[in-house]
Amino acid sequence: MKARPPAGAAQVLATATRVVLQVVLEGHSADEALAGFANHPQRAAIQAIALGAVRWYVRLAPAVLPLASAGGGELDARLRVLLVCAVHQLEYSSHSPASSVAAAVDAIRLLDLARAAGLVNAVLRRYLRERALRLAAVDRTLATRHAHPAWLVKALAQAWPQHLEQILTANNEHPPLCLRLDLRRGSVPAYLDELKAAGIEANGVSGVDSAVCLAAALPVREIPGFAEGRVSVQDSSAQLAAVLLAPQPGERVLDACAAPGGKTGALLERAGGELDLVALDSDAVRLHRVAENLERLQRKAQLVQADLRAAPDWWDARPFDAILLDAPCSGTGVIRRHPDIKLLRRAADLPRLAATQLELLRACWPLLRPGGRLLYGTCSVLPVENLGVIEAFLANEPGASLTQLPQAANCSPPLRSTSTGWQILPLARAGGDGFYYACLTRATTAGTV
Ligand SMILES: C[S@@+](CC[C@H](N)C(=O)[O-])C[C@H]1O[C@@H](n2cnc3c(N)ncnc32)[C@H](O)[C@@H]1O
Repeated sequence: MKARPPAGAAQVLATATRVVLQVVLEGHSADEALAGFANHPQRAAIQAIALGAVRWYVRLAPAVLPLASAGGGELDARLRVLLVCAVHQLEYSSHSPASSVAAAVDAIRLLDLARAAGLVNAVLRRYLRERALRLAAVDRTLATRHAHPAWLVKALAQAWPQHLEQILTANNEHPPLCLRLDLRRGSVPAYLDELKAAGIEANGVSGVDSAVCLAAALPVREIPGFAEGRVSVQDSSAQLAAVLLAPQPGERVLDACAAPGGKTGALLERAGGELDLVALDSDAVRLHRVAENLERLQRKAQLVQADLRAAPDWWDARPFDAILLDAPCSGTGVIRRHPDIKLLRRAADLPRLAATQLELLRACWPLLRPGGRLLYGTCSVLPVENLGVIEAFLANEPGASLTQLPQAANCSPPLRSTSTGWQILPLARAGGDGFYYACLTRATTAGTV
């Protein structure tokens, strides 16, 4: 194996390894870890390797790492992560195996671990000889075959036994780029024509009137209408929040967990901008992104930085007609967009998240006017964060009742009606992200809705 790697390949591999290390060792999200390389000339290649290695880490690590740990000692984290990134290249890139091995040997030197160069070379060469057997052994277990942690596979199997393999498969797909069109500033058929004229292949999404999915991803600056705010990037399942809350012009609305503002923009667009909208979030940095998004959309809202669970001293005591609570969650419905979730989440996070979701729901309920509606949503597919939270809330809140969501028969994000709301499952690449929605109405007088 004498081939030299393409120029810069080792540098890219070493940088991707540093990104994955931040996820695996320090618990940073991949987005945070990649943010430091936003202006890197090789950003796309670094991102592709890093996200690919994160996506397949749980499958590739047990296939390759035992080859390096024959002595039984703890492997240097840089070596572990580099080997997984290199095997990802061997399995999923179009580079020749020889050049990928050579790049990995050079990359370990760039990671200040020159003494491991011989080991990297030997391990990867042996992996190439044994890959079929090694992967077959790993693939005997469902969780490692699909590169998911065992606890998550167990939770998904309990919740969705008939769809388990479909969900696991879809979670490892590359998601489509979906756009939300501001229907006040254009129609989907006209926008599809505009895209066609620009040579961009795209489709509408049945059941989501504002959604357009591109056949291939594009940088946002190349998307017609993005800069002037006619379109935004938003998955079709997320777009349903504004459809279901259906804010009416003149209403006073609270977007209770608003940042970075995807749904804030969608709510404003639905009502033609004529909402008295408060967009609240506890995270100042993320709230700044709401401001940036609204500026691009040329829409206005009152931005509030506050912890929803604290006394609402930001509130002027005028109740809201409608509230959207897009609660922080496990993100198990958006793994295809954020594969790091598979490495970062733990089973123990779930009860803590569910308790927070219930607290947030209880905190915003008193801000709703009698007769008003609250849409609860998460991008989780786990019932403990969805049905479980709504049932626990209803059990102690006699003034709250469930509102039937409209029939979802022709909606292309695959929907399941549950006893409390809609569960969208991520089942296919072309479908929407996993999402849950439930709509609650506050009684006008004690006991009546
Ligand atoms: C799922 S994200 C919201 C996404 C947003 N609705 C959108 O569509 O772009 C959840 C948000 O809840 C915020 N959050 C978490 N805990 C909070 C709290 N106690 N009070 C207010 N916001 C909170 C987080 O900062 C995060 O931005």
